[in-house]
Amino acid sequence: MKYWFNEPELKAILPLAASSAVRGLSSNFNTPRIFMGPNALPKGKGLGASSIDFIGAKCSKKRAFIITDDFAKRFSARVSKAFEASGFKTQIWSNALPEAPLSNVKECSEIMSQFNPDLIVALGGGSIIDGAKGAWIYYERPDVTDLRVLSPFEPLGLRKKAIFAAIPTTSGTGSECTATAVIHDTENNRKIPVANSDLLPDFAILVPEFTMTMPPKLTAGTGLDVLSHAMDAIMSPAASDLSDAINLSAIKTVFKFLPRAYHHGQDREARFRMLVASSLGGIGIQTSGAALTHSFGHSLGSLFHVHHGIAVGIFIPFVFQFYREVSDKYLEICDALKIEGKTKQERFHGLMEKVRTLFKELEVPLNLKDLEISKENLEEKMEKLALFTHEDIDSVFSPRPITIDQCKKIFRYAFEGKSIDF
Ligand SMILES: [Fe+2]
Repeated sequence: MKYWFNEPELKAILPLAASSAVRGLSSNFNTPRIFMGPNALPKGKGLGASSIDFIGAKCSKKRAFIITDDFAKRFSARVSKAFEASGFKTQIWSNALPEAPLSNVKECSEIMSQFNPDLIVALGGGSIIDGAKGAWIYYERPDVTDLRVLSPFEPLGLRKKAIFAAIPTTSGTGSECTATAVIHDTENNRKIPVANSDLLPDFAILVPEFTMTMPPKLTAGTGLDVLSHAMDAIMSPAASDLSDAINLSAIKTVFKFLPRAYHHGQDREARFRMLVASSLGGIGIQTSGAALTHSFGHSLGSLFHVHHGIAVGIFIPFVFQFYREVSDKYLEICDALKIEGKTKQERFHGLMEKVRTLFKELEVPLNLKDLEISKENLEEKMEKLALFTHEDIDSVFSPRPITIDQCKKIFRYAFEGKSIDF
């Protein structure tokens, strides 16, 4: 199967285009309009303009199509009520499936087309927001038949029919602030990362109460996704001063507030801080890209159905050991976390220890073996695992180029929990 990210020319150009030298000359920095606090989703008349007032000013038809899933639909009444109070007609579609399977995304776009909205509201975790972005493409562009081959460099021309608002109910992917959507190509058991600047939501509405019902395991997994985004993005050659400031802030927040959110789900401050960190991480990867944590995590997730956040998080220590040969930018993370030491080596070990301590506190495995993956199963799928990792678009953002053999070696080391020594 041909995917846009397999194009050899693209792979040759991207590392240069993503390098800090070139991006320093040509980058732009985009975020949605983000709403937090009492006016984010008001229950009644608040003080000053609310998110709905800003959104309503851009929607002449005032028809909102709310996409959610079986879990997050419990919040949909509050969302539709807030929009209806401002004159919107709403329709709720709650059949979105986890991992955004292609067929489910198409089904959503068909129902959406019948309703003909000028506002799409995605209410849910990262894959719900991603699936809604996919449905948005099909709704606006019925001529698009295959998301797998869409070029990130050709504008999609969205917003002729609808604008897009995202309301996350988990604190992880930061999809409310990214111009990408990961759709599941179930036919080939592969993730399709659709990337296009048009996919950046117009609005992100952050309501911490919506994340409070996340069970501890999901809180840990999604929180580690935030950490992977922010740590990887610091090491990316595409990082900039803007993205570094944002990512370091997200890293500090995760270490401080994720254990609190994990142990005390009703801790509103911890939930709020993690929700903001998730959006920061989204803005961070939008600007500088996630790297090998995500290449390895995407493969592991596709072939062993491990939760995305756990799948990417588990690789943090291994890929950082791999990066260390060529970059000491991890010292900026050490500075932010006040990890001291007499030598770079001591500080690096201090950082890895801090990551492992967080994992232990969140009761997350430190190696693949403890994910209940057998050695035989790993070896059986090794060729695909290594190939998918190597081909993954996020590999482009690795500060150290990686070979297929090194991918295999890292999988084997990660299985045993052994430190990378090559
Ligand atoms: Fe992620």
